[in-house]
Amino acid sequence: MRTIRRMTESDLDQVCAIEQATFSDPWSRASFAKAITEPTDIYLVCDVNGEIAGYCGLWGVAGEGQITNVAVKDTFRRQGIGEEMLTRLLAEGREKDLNAYTLEVRVSNESAIRLYHRLGFADAGIRKRFYTHPTEDALIMWIV
Ligand SMILES: CC(C)(COP(=O)(O)OP(=O)(O)OC[C@H]1O[C@@H](n2cnc3c(N)ncnc32)[C@H](O)[C@@H]1OP(=O)(O)O)[C@@H](O)C(=O)NCCC(=O)NCCS
Repeated sequence: MRTIRRMTESDLDQVCAIEQATFSDPWSRASFAKAITEPTDIYLVCDVNGEIAGYCGLWGVAGEGQITNVAVKDTFRRQGIGEEMLTRLLAEGREKDLNAYTLEVRVSNESAIRLYHRLGFADAGIRKRFYTHPTEDALIMWIV
C-alpha cells in the first residue's frame, strides 16, 4: 500500500540513503532531523509497504513555502509518486496559510521541471552558478 505521511525520526536512515544516492551535495541527517521538528516546516514521505519511496519538504516563511527537497528513489520513479507527494505538500501548506511556493532546480533537470510545470509552477528567473558538483545555473520557479 502507498501512503503519503509526515516524515518521522525513524524514516531518516532511508531518507538519508536516498538523499546520498541522488544528490552530489546531500543534506545531512542533522538537517533533516531539525527540519522535521520545526512547527513551520512540512516534511512528507511516500511509504510503500513500509519502504520509503520518496520524500519532499518545505520551510514555511512569511506566508510562503520554500520547497527544499524533492526526491523519489530510482526504483520507484515514473509511478506518479513525485506528483502525488507535491500535490499533498501544497495542500498541507495551504492549510497552514502558505499561499505561494518557490523552488530551485538545475536547468538541465528536464523531468523535474516538467513535473513542476504540470503542477502549475511558472519559471521566474535564473540564479547563475547556483549549484556546485557540477557548477550549474538554477531555474527559480513559483506557484501562487
Ligand atoms: C524529479 C523526480 C522527483 C520525479 O519523481 P517521479 O515520482 O518519477 O515523478 P512522477 O512519476 O510524478 O512523474 C515523472 C514522469 O513519470 C510519468 N508517469 C507518472 N505516472 C506514470 C505511470 N503510472 N506510468 C508511466 N509513467 C508515469 C509522468 O508522466 C512523468 O513523465 P515525464 O517525465 O515524461 O513528464 C524524480 O525523478 C527524482 O527524484 N529525481 C532525482 C532528484 C531530483 O531531481 N529532484 C528534484 C530536485 S529540484
